[in-house]
Amino acid sequence: MEVWFLLDASILAIISKPTLAVIFQPSPWQLSHATFNGDETASETMGAACGYGNLFVNGYGTDTVALSSTLFDNGYACGSCYQIKCYQSKWCFSGVPFTTVTATNLCPPNWSQDSNNGGWCNPPRVHFDMSKPAFMKIAQWKAGIVPVMYRRVPCIRSGGLRFYFQGNAYWLLVYVMNVGGGGDITQMWVKGSKTGWISMSHNWGASYQAFATPGSQSLSFKIISYSTKETIIAWNVAPANWAVGLTYKTNVNFH
Ligand SMILES: *[C@@H]1O[C@H](CO)[C@@H](O)[C@H](O)[C@H]1NC(C)=O
Repeated sequence: MEVWFLLDASILAIISKPTLAVIFQPSPWQLSHATFNGDETASETMGAACGYGNLFVNGYGTDTVALSSTLFDNGYACGSCYQIKCYQSKWCFSGVPFTTVTATNLCPPNWSQDSNNGGWCNPPRVHFDMSKPAFMKIAQWKAGIVPVMYRRVPCIRSGGLRFYFQGNAYWLLVYVMNVGGGGDITQMWVKGSKTGWISMSHNWGASYQAFATPGSQSLSFKIISYSTKETIIAWNVAPANWAVGLTYKTNVNFH
């Protein structure tokens, strides 16, 4: 019996998927500087510019960083991951190779300060304003600012993509969280069970919006990784009785 003729295109697509999987590759190490913000609890980093809300509940913890606008890229860098190591300073802890942080915030420019004396986040500077707990893993906090080596690395996330819903009957605002691999996304669509794919536009941080909200329909999402351009479709993420204020979990992710 010729089994192959029984396989349709969608099954073949599933079978061939592993060979198409895209793995985010680390960038080369580069020189920069790091400061820290807040205190040991990192509580002030909650609800920051990426819009992840409570970082503990949403899986990011305290190892987070605010990026200068050069790196922040209008929020497209939200969710990206960096290894940061203290570099050639007496304040560096020896024996600590690096710490890994997730971008959850913007470090805004302050043009009333010199870019080389306090205005560390002024463009075109590449700067990392780390949470205090993350900074204290690589250097003494008394240093204030240290030279660092940094590189982009794949984000290691437990579980799948998460979609946090906000908005109303006419406007769906979705925060994409727990993104693995590049950690960042560039484009997104929503599909109701009775609609086609509806393009969503970037709102701010890690949020995307649609102005036609498919009510009383289960929702699926198609998203494209900013870094790797890989596309993932998360089918039936939310049931027909979906509601704003809730987070819907999936079992698919980037790597
Ligand atoms: C910018 O720097 C000035 C001078 O140090 C300071 O007074 C001010 O609070 C800073 N602004 C912000 C928004 O941090």
